[in-house]
Amino acid sequence: MKIVIAHSEEEFGKLAFAEIREVVYQDPACTLGLATGSTPIPLYKEMVKDHQENGTSYGKVRTFNLDEYVGLPKEHPESYISFMTRNLFSHVDIDMKNVNIPNGLAPDITAECARYSSLLDKVSVDVQVLGIGANGHIAFNEPGTPFDSKTHQVFLTQKTISDNARFFDSIDQVPKSALTMGIGEIMNAKKLLMLAAGSNKADAVYKMIKGPVDPSCPASILQKHPDVVIVLDRAAAAKL
Ligand code: PGA
Repeated sequence: MKIVIAHSEEEFGKLAFAEIREVVYQDPACTLGLATGSTPIPLYKEMVKDHQENGTSYGKVRTFNLDEYVGLPKEHPESYISFMTRNLFSHVDIDMKNVNIPNGLAPDITAECARYSSLLDKVSVDVQVLGIGANGHIAFNEPGTPFDSKTHQVFLTQKTISDNARFFDSIDQVPKSALTMGIGEIMNAKKLLMLAAGSNKADAVYKMIKGPVDPSCPASILQKHPDVVIVLDRAAAAKL
C-alpha cells in the first residue's frame, strides 16, 4: 500500500492524476475504472487540463464505472452518466462507445447485473478509482457485503435517501436503489487508486488501513490487494 498525503485540493488532484497518467502513457488503449462523488472531481479536473494542455488522448481508452442509480433518466443531472459526462467525458476525446456504466433503466435488472459482470469478466481493469464512504463502503457496497460479491442491485438505506434528498426537488424523487460493481470485481483490477478527503472520512480511512479485514468495513479488503495507492488530504489522514 502506498499512501500519499496532499496539502491542497490541487495537489490532491495532481497526485491522483500522476497514477492515471502513468497507466495511460504506458498503454493508450488501457481500461480505466472510474468513480463518481465529490472526491474524484480534482482528479477529473487534472485529466481535462492535461488533455487540453498536453493532448493526452483517451481515444482508445475503455472505461467502466462503479455504479448507477436505478430508474433515473440518463439526462437527469444526478445520474452517474450525467456526472461523468459533465466532469470528464465531454471534455476529453473519449469515444462514448468505449464507456461502460451499469444501465439503471434496464427492464430486467437481474439480467443487467449479469451483463455488466460478464463484461467485467472479459476485461482487465488497469486502474480502478475508488472513494470511501464514512461507513467504509466502496461503491454502493455497504458494510456486510460479501468480499466476493459481483455486480448487484442495492436498496439504499433511509439515511442515504435522506442524505441525497438535497440533490433532488423532493425526497420522493431520490432513487431507492442502485446497481453496483461487486467487491470481488473491484478487487480484480490490476491497481486500485483510493481517494479520500475530509475529516468525516478519517475513521473509515483508519479502519481501511489499520483495522481488521472484515466486511463491517468493506474498504478494509484493500489490505489484501497487491497494488494500492491511497491519496488522502490531511483531514482524512488525521487518525493514521
Ligand atoms: P464522496 O463519496 O466522494 O462524495 O465523498 C464517496 C463515497 O461515498 O463512496
